[in-house]
Amino acid sequence: MATKAARPGRMRGVEPRDERNGQTRQTHGPCTFVVFGGTGDLAKRKILPALSRLRLEGFIDDDCTIIGVARDTGMDDVKYRDVVRQAIEDDGMSPKEIDRWIETTVFFQSIGKSAPEDFAALASRIEAVERERQQPPNRVFYLALPPNVFPATIEALAHAGLSRNVTGPDNGTKYWTRLVIEKPFGHDLQSAIALNQLIHRCFDESQVYRIDHYLGKETVQNLLIFRFANSVFESLWNRDHVESVQITVAEELGVEGRAPYYEQSGAVRDILQNHGAQLIALVAMEVPAMMNAEFIRQEKVKALRSVRAITPKNVVLGQYTHGEINDHSVPGYREEPGVAATSRTETFAAVRLEIDSWRWQGVPFFLRTGKRMKKRVTEIVVKFRRPPVWMFTPLGAPDLHRNALRLTIQPDEGFALYFHIKAPGKPLKLERLPLDFFYKERFTELPEAYQTLLLDVIDGDQTLFVHADEVEAAWRLFSPILDNTLAVSFYAAGSWGPKESDDLLQRSGQKWSNEYRRE
Ligand code: BG6
Repeated sequence: MATKAARPGRMRGVEPRDERNGQTRQTHGPCTFVVFGGTGDLAKRKILPALSRLRLEGFIDDDCTIIGVARDTGMDDVKYRDVVRQAIEDDGMSPKEIDRWIETTVFFQSIGKSAPEDFAALASRIEAVERERQQPPNRVFYLALPPNVFPATIEALAHAGLSRNVTGPDNGTKYWTRLVIEKPFGHDLQSAIALNQLIHRCFDESQVYRIDHYLGKETVQNLLIFRFANSVFESLWNRDHVESVQITVAEELGVEGRAPYYEQSGAVRDILQNHGAQLIALVAMEVPAMMNAEFIRQEKVKALRSVRAITPKNVVLGQYTHGEINDHSVPGYREEPGVAATSRTETFAAVRLEIDSWRWQGVPFFLRTGKRMKKRVTEIVVKFRRPPVWMFTPLGAPDLHRNALRLTIQPDEGFALYFHIKAPGKPLKLERLPLDFFYKERFTELPEAYQTLLLDVIDGDQTLFVHADEVEAAWRLFSPILDNTLAVSFYAAGSWGPKESDDLLQRSGQKWSNEYRRE
């Protein structure tokens, strides 16, 4: 990749910073980023900081315009620039650089009551800004909105003529329009299908970018490289060699003021149906014909469709009670503000999955997630089969361990492969040691998921986004456990979940691998 020459309009005095991890920089764009919910939490916490970092690091230029959109009628360009300033304050640009960037590239448009006239006014404003800034009509519509207003917004965009790709006046040049939406993509299978149908009435699937921020994590992307660029692992990645797979998405955080959302959602909808399903698909999928969005999606969907229907005996749901995390006392879920005193919402879920495929038949996949767990960790542990004969017992080494591979997605990104060695001397003693790699030790910095994903939207690369088929396959998979009839066990905050979760594995002769210690 070569660094593109600076385009006209490029801000002088702000050059790309030092190259990170030896990458060559390339600027992306031009385009207009229209952020619905531009004054909301997601925009302030994730989208605006990600855009400013991309600007700071030279991945986007002054020809990426931002138009914040919100109902706020008291807001204007000047006030919105302050909102943006505050959102990115800590982001590494000097105040002078920030001012220069914001004053030229950030705008605001109110959509009042979201009536058709408001969307017509928005369309005119976008065109006016593009004209003024001499930018082509490449547009991103980012819906950083509560899911209940997705349908009306999507339809209003289409009605205002904003959903189609614009064609140049000579009818030759094609520009692009892209729609970005955030989970939840529906509340269950039926609502997800309805949402997809509505989206497809207004946009083509090739224009749609559904964000699952897990796919933007460098270590999740690395799963594909790990598997398909290393024959040593891929040749073992099947039922002949693997005994079980464990996937854990554990958080120390509780519901953090999101009770109204979480009470309706629970752990299965909040994590398993999206991030969990994506991790399963990436671990279980077959080798794609090519490394592109279409072929990768086909394999992921196939993997999800091969999972056998989940039965209640293979599910454990839990809810945290009062406990301690890192020596701090924390309240139980039912004591959190906004949570019903008799709430049955699950804050923990563990499932045992069976995949009916030639590769995985008979290999249990255990997937769990929980809030207020002992430790924040997202990881995949692949346990390999034991040696068929253990010949070291007579020599004094009766403990037979499995080889295991631990892929840590966060926080200590990296992997560890456990294997046996002989400890020096006599009597014979075997030790199980890790051969490990940590991103932190090799690379200076990992990009934030949103930076990666926003750049891919601008580039039109859908590989790290969730296709309509994947959304539906994932809902179908978890449908049997969404009806609120399963028992919910309790676990103390700061633990690894209810005892029933350990029992779930024990029944298959397995144990959760909770702790990784660097020897
Ligand atoms: C979100 C969930 O999708 O993922 C949150 O809605 C959860 O409840 C978050 O806290 C976890 O993301 P991460 O990147 O911190 O693992």
